[in-house]
Amino acid sequence: MMEKEAEEKGQDQEQEQEQVVNPWQVSAKSGGKIDYDKLIDQFGCQRLDQSLIDRVERLTSRPPHVFLRRGVFFAHRDFNDILDAYEKGDKFYLYTGRGPSSEALHLGHLIPFMFTKYLQDAFKVPLVIQLTDDEKCMWKNMSVEESHRLAWENAKDIIACGFDVTRTFIFSDFDYMGGNFYKNIVKVAKCVTYNKVVGIFGFTGEDHIGKVFFPPVQAVPSFPSTFPHLFTGRDHLRCLIPCAIDQDPYFRMTRDVAPRIGYLKPALIESSFFPALQGENGKMSASDPNSAIYVTDSAKAIKNKINKYAFSGGQDSIEKHRELGANLEVDIPVKYLSFFLDDDAELEHIKKEYGAGRMLTGEVKQRLIDVLTELVERHRRARAAVTDEMVAAFMAVRPLPNMFN
Ligand code: TYM
Ligand code: TRP
Repeated sequence: MMEKEAEEKGQDQEQEQEQVVNPWQVSAKSGGKIDYDKLIDQFGCQRLDQSLIDRVERLTSRPPHVFLRRGVFFAHRDFNDILDAYEKGDKFYLYTGRGPSSEALHLGHLIPFMFTKYLQDAFKVPLVIQLTDDEKCMWKNMSVEESHRLAWENAKDIIACGFDVTRTFIFSDFDYMGGNFYKNIVKVAKCVTYNKVVGIFGFTGEDHIGKVFFPPVQAVPSFPSTFPHLFTGRDHLRCLIPCAIDQDPYFRMTRDVAPRIGYLKPALIESSFFPALQGENGKMSASDPNSAIYVTDSAKAIKNKINKYAFSGGQDSIEKHRELGANLEVDIPVKYLSFFLDDDAELEHIKKEYGAGRMLTGEVKQRLIDVLTELVERHRRARAAVTDEMVAAFMAVRPLPNMFN
């Protein structure tokens, strides 16, 4: 279908590329931005509208997170059912994860974790975090041992986001596999044909069979029976998965299979991508260091990267800028501020002044440098305080007796 569209427009087949969004690749149509409305249609998810955000505010008695207010989390599947149940007094659990592909996380990776932390605090619910060390060593050219080591290191960055150890279980697939986890994997795997997995994930005959088998591993933490030490006797506990929309294919598969094996479908709340410094045609990615700001970057590195690489919507000369103003649609510093500058009034002020040409790119970049330096510094301090003992505590297979209080 996508190929046909391109042909119909008679475009240069060499250059033109349609939008691609899957767990391994995020790229916009040539020369454009990611079209999120189109993704909602294509994937068949629902838009997260204002009435849902208002409901979250009412139910939690706290202001909605900046990522909700600004539409960073913009799509969902059955989030309304979670809220309906919660309103009646039924709790749920949260599930998210991380593929430990690099030593340090970048700011894009922090987004689902910062948001999950807010959800955990606001709804007072348990959380499971899957570290897919198996996945990453199969997709990246990385040894089993190295991937396992990175899972432990990444757990420190995740813990530094402030999760509550009395409500959070973090697990590495390598360590936790077995028991009910593996039984559920096999139940799911039996329901998914090879053709189906190829249709969803695009595997080819050259891909090794580890990849073909992996999707059920990411699927089953959506089912409470995967965690007998946490959820025994609560087979109907609902699951809510916060993630960026690149992970949606895994959970489309999961939702398709769930009723066939007698389980509830997980609900999802999905974010857009924190873009690369170079612009909004892709996501910030760990594979290109100049596209990303890492939580380990020094203040100097942050300053350099923003000044040198952050794509600006400002005009080429001051005269032109004063006359025409900045193009806010393509401006990365403004986009980044819309994720991380909490103060709504200040953000509006910057947009107005910069858009009218009264504020210059340099000033906006400086404000962004301040905001991100503070964020990264805060993260660095929090991470330095996370000891191996704390990681072991979060990863211990244990009951969480107060997880719903
Ligand atoms: P990973 O490690 O690639 O990414 C971890 C989480 O970060 C999100 N993400 C982003 N969000 C916003 N902007 C970006 N630029 C950006 N880059 C990454 C991802 O969507 C993800 O939510 N296979 C998964 C691990 C996993 C998982 C899960 C994720 C296992 N189970 C359940 C979410 C939910 C992975 O490798 O994520
Ligand atoms: N598959 C994800 C990745 O490659 C990692 C992941 C595992 C994940 N479980 C998850 C992400 C649950 C979000 C929610 O990045």
